[in-house]
Amino acid sequence: MRTRRLPGTDLDLSVVGFGCWAIGKTWWGDDVDDDSSVAAIHRALDLGVTWFDTAPIYGWGHADEVLAKGLGSHKKDVVIATKVGVSRIGEHAHSLLTAENLRADLEASLTRLGVDCIDLLQVHWPCESSTPFEVTFAALDDLRREGKFKHLGVCNYNAAALPQIASITKLVSLQMGYSLVRREFEAGERAMCEQLGLGMLAYEPLCRGLLTGKFTHAPTFPETDLRARDDRFKGNRFLHGQRLAADLAKVASKVGVPTSAVAIGWVAAQPGVTAVIVGAKRPEQVEQNVRAAELVDKAKVWEVVNRIAAVHGGTPR
Ligand SMILES: NC(=O)c1ccc[n+]([C@@H]2O[C@H](COP(=O)([O-])OP(=O)(O)OC[C@H]3O[C@@H](n4cnc5c(N)ncnc54)[C@H](OP(=O)(O)O)[C@@H]3O)[C@@H](O)[C@H]2O)c1
Repeated sequence: MRTRRLPGTDLDLSVVGFGCWAIGKTWWGDDVDDDSSVAAIHRALDLGVTWFDTAPIYGWGHADEVLAKGLGSHKKDVVIATKVGVSRIGEHAHSLLTAENLRADLEASLTRLGVDCIDLLQVHWPCESSTPFEVTFAALDDLRREGKFKHLGVCNYNAAALPQIASITKLVSLQMGYSLVRREFEAGERAMCEQLGLGMLAYEPLCRGLLTGKFTHAPTFPETDLRARDDRFKGNRFLHGQRLAADLAKVASKVGVPTSAVAIGWVAAQPGVTAVIVGAKRPEQVEQNVRAAELVDKAKVWEVVNRIAAVHGGTPR
């Protein structure tokens, strides 16, 4: 497994990280099983994955508990990245970035994960309750001084917000969606990350499974799966992703890797990307996905994939 240093930190991240959203067991269907999730984490450790991305809202804490169980005594050998600031209001998630909420959220995460300090703490998404940046990031600095986390990142903030935040606190990373069908990063945030020296952690590289090529027809998901309400699995947007995935499958077969590895490897090979976070429910998925690391330097493969992506067009609306 290839690793890259997250700029401004002592953290070496495998180019393929493990995303814990699905193993939280809410919003990802009825086939999530804790034993399989733990087995997937074990396989990731065996195959050299050095970092795990979780969040309090993934199963409202359940993902953290499964991650803690799966890592066991290896907690100290890997990087745990988690998030802070999003609260549950009824069945909805709401970003509440007050000092009190940040402290309570972080302390609950430390307890669930069974650690004293988080390696990388990320604000999950911009505030939906009008707390100014100055209040939020000063409160986070207090928590950092208390030793509750080491490094700070943000998720889902736009290019305009990043320099404002970086002028208040020491920021090291941006996490946002990036894949062959979701390319907004290239338009604004990439240049800003470069200017500010931030690492970029790319989520949803498989477009929630669509770019594995496994969906040959528009799927029907149970209501418990958020993809039942995801337009990328319907109509023309589904056809776009499905045809792109079919072409990626041809490249994958020539190179001798699974299709998912090509989709993930493309993201990992893009300028400005430090590492990619991939969700997995089972060990076999991890085995396929980590093969992306073999491809990162294969410029000829990316020339072909870029030509295919150009034929299919960019982010469909
Ligand atoms: N900061 C944020 O706001 C934010 C937002 C989204 C995600 N994230 C993070 O990024 C991680 C990754 O994103 P994501 O999980 O939403 O999407 P993703 O990585 O694009 O897709 C993951 C899903 O694809 C399917 N899959 C994975 N590998 C596969 C394989 N080899 N073959 C077939 N199917 C496979 C699995 O679901 P099925 O088996 O059910 O198809 C899996 O749950 C998350 O877990 C989370 O840690 C962060």
